[in-house]
Amino acid sequence: PPTPTFPPRSNSEQTLKTQLSHTPSVRKKGVKDFEFGKTLGEGSYSTVVAARDRSNNREYAVKILDKKHIIKEKKVKYVNIEKNTLNKMNHPGIVRLYYTFQDPDSLYFVLDHAKNGELLTFIKKLGSFDMDCTKFYASQILSAIEYMHSQGVIHRDLKPENILLDEKMHVKVTDFGTAKILEQNAEGEEDDRANSFVGTAEYVSPELLKEKAACKSSDFWALGCIIYQLIAGRPPFKGANEYRTFQKIVNLEYSFPDGFPPVARDLVQKLLVLNPSERLGSGGKAGVERLKAHPFFQGIDWDTLWQQPAPNLL
Ligand code: ADE
Repeated sequence: PPTPTFPPRSNSEQTLKTQLSHTPSVRKKGVKDFEFGKTLGEGSYSTVVAARDRSNNREYAVKILDKKHIIKEKKVKYVNIEKNTLNKMNHPGIVRLYYTFQDPDSLYFVLDHAKNGELLTFIKKLGSFDMDCTKFYASQILSAIEYMHSQGVIHRDLKPENILLDEKMHVKVTDFGTAKILEQNAEGEEDDRANSFVGTAEYVSPELLKEKAACKSSDFWALGCIIYQLIAGRPPFKGANEYRTFQKIVNLEYSFPDGFPPVARDLVQKLLVLNPSERLGSGGKAGVERLKAHPFFQGIDWDTLWQQPAPNLL
């Protein structure tokens, strides 16, 4: 067949192309655009460093990932999951990804800098939270979970270290490196239940340990563990080692300390349910609404949750 011929490009077409590819009005950011400061956190494949955009003095947290290490340890897939999930999300309770770039050694993810650091630090410092604070933080975490699930994302490793606090002492969920993006099937429905990753021992759901399958409901199990921990000061399942912790989880072996408020106890008992489809919060939008309607959340105004001032800790 003859090669199709095209009319010569018009001048305006050429100008448009030049603007788009050669002189972009928004230049891609790079390492040189930031002044790096103190280290905020260190993981096995990454370091998070405070950074300032030299052009406007805005402050960020930059996650720097070592390319060689990621390739050697076969974690390329998880780095892509983190970038793809964060790129999909736009919610006050979830760390935002502003820019990504790379140099020969590293990948850079420019994120919100949550000034007050990890929720875990506050649990350790205070021992435990009062009911007002527990309710507020449980509500913000639940609101963030509701949003990510609405976007087809399961976090799979929710824990007080991955729940950061910003300058207003509001929640910012981070670390989507082990998240799962639910694929839509032919009917446009999400194929729930997926995959073999195991998160942090103390917050791992029984279905993940037994069936190697996590679903949206697995994030509600973790929420139950976190609410218990905010009140009791320690997670509900903690063994002498990982294996013992796993045994306690699959046997639902935990108890409430004296003075644990009954309404919180009722909620935790409905979240720490072995069968994920019987767990409060499961069953799609209606399930989440039932969870939000539990008496524990009495008095929470879900519509203005992210505009409200945080209650004073202590
Ligand atoms: N530690 C890890 N990630 C962080 C972030 N985005 N903000 C503050 N501290 C962090």
